[in-house]
Amino acid sequence: MYYIGIDLGTSACKLLLVDEKGQILNEVTKEYPLEFPKPGWSQQAPEDWKKAMLEGVPELLKGFDGSLVAGIGAGGQMHGLVVLDKDDNVIRPAILWNDGRTAKQVDYLNGEVGKQKLSELTANIAFAGFTAPKILWMQENEPENFKKIAKIMLPKDYINYILTGVHCCDYSDASGMLLLDVQNKCWSKEMLQLCGVTEAQMPKLFESYEVVGTVLPDVAKALGIPETAKVVGGAGDNAAAAVGTGVVGSGGCNISLGTSGTIFISSDKFGVDPNNALHAFAHADGGWHLMGCMLSAASCNKWLCDEILKTKDYAAEQKDITEDKLGNNHVYFLPYLMGERSPINDTNARGTFIGMTMDTSRSDLVQAVLEGVAFAIRDSFEVARSLGVAIPTTKICGGGSKSPLWRTIFANVLGIPLELVKTEQGPGYGGAMLAMVGCGLYESVQAAADALVEVASTVQPDPELTARYEARYQQFKQIYPACRELFAKIV
Ligand code: XUL
Repeated sequence: MYYIGIDLGTSACKLLLVDEKGQILNEVTKEYPLEFPKPGWSQQAPEDWKKAMLEGVPELLKGFDGSLVAGIGAGGQMHGLVVLDKDDNVIRPAILWNDGRTAKQVDYLNGEVGKQKLSELTANIAFAGFTAPKILWMQENEPENFKKIAKIMLPKDYINYILTGVHCCDYSDASGMLLLDVQNKCWSKEMLQLCGVTEAQMPKLFESYEVVGTVLPDVAKALGIPETAKVVGGAGDNAAAAVGTGVVGSGGCNISLGTSGTIFISSDKFGVDPNNALHAFAHADGGWHLMGCMLSAASCNKWLCDEILKTKDYAAEQKDITEDKLGNNHVYFLPYLMGERSPINDTNARGTFIGMTMDTSRSDLVQAVLEGVAFAIRDSFEVARSLGVAIPTTKICGGGSKSPLWRTIFANVLGIPLELVKTEQGPGYGGAMLAMVGCGLYESVQAAADALVEVASTVQPDPELTARYEARYQQFKQIYPACRELFAKIV
């Protein structure tokens, strides 16, 4: 039998065809545009995701027997507000996870409602990208659209709805809405009320590996798969990526270097960061996780190369960054191109180069960007360590993890070994694994991970380089506090 894994990302929808042994038989990527209608705003048309999936699946199955598809599982960009009217039409473009328009609503939630209350109700506080502040923004700024809302869902849930006709959401993704009582895995009545919505407008909740339904007959026909194909709840892309890299159960860590950068620490026990700098969310394996999320990670390198250096050859830009240069760069970069979430929670923060001299080279700037992203992940890593969480080693996945140089920088900035798994497709592979569990091929997500995930290579930190980076990190840490007030004035 075959399983389809969907990674509904911010720049593209990546589809994987996986067999029973976990081998990837084919993959297809369908890109779609991202709109930035104002500085710091970020939105996308759900219809583009639908088109990408509907066109991508038949392409994925070309040359394969589609009748063997048993299950589909999706991992998707988190927090995006998708709103449907009573006829299930999309009301407005989805407001995405890296959108910063809700500063006022975040201030109201964290200030007037209060962080303590939010944390009691949802295990989290408000961040601009979370879904609840976006609902409040719509209520205030687009009252006509707000009145039309019949269903609220998250990006990959829209795909699951197109496939099955079921309005559903899984616990890992729902955790990032600030509407879920994460510990008790149910909608928080108080939070719904605060946001002016009712439980009837919310999707039905599932575990990530639970079957939400089978594929609608006309959709099955269009895709070339059987009507019996099962669709599972799926997960937020970070939880799906963690499944795909085998970070399930207790004490695992995964770093995802995509458009966003995340550090994901799995646990079989529910726990909250007392300062709420890290998110406390449900995991796709039925457990929990803590997560720090930076809004621009591999996208900082993409921005520098595409927009400033005008090149697509990222590897060529890194080839002058030789071993001796690591830990010796006097240029620093704050990677806050879309403001920042974890751990500083500041929509006003901006990307910043500092420390340049007349002899600063093009490759020093590239190096500063790669290092700045690693230092910013280290900020969340330090928050986790301060909570007593031991992180002896980490997995890494996502586009940025393909750069050997960036992997070396990360291993030494964090001072821990970094493992790359054989199938590093993260969310898509995790989605396919969840589908396997839903279809009964494995009895649990843990069993699927034990059977399918294998470490391909490990980068060991070098003590001398780690020490050099430690000194650099101590300097990096001082830059944002020195700029914070200025950022607020220059927006
Ligand atoms: C996580 C987050 C991002 C998106 C990226 O909280 O906002 O990692 O899920 O797709």
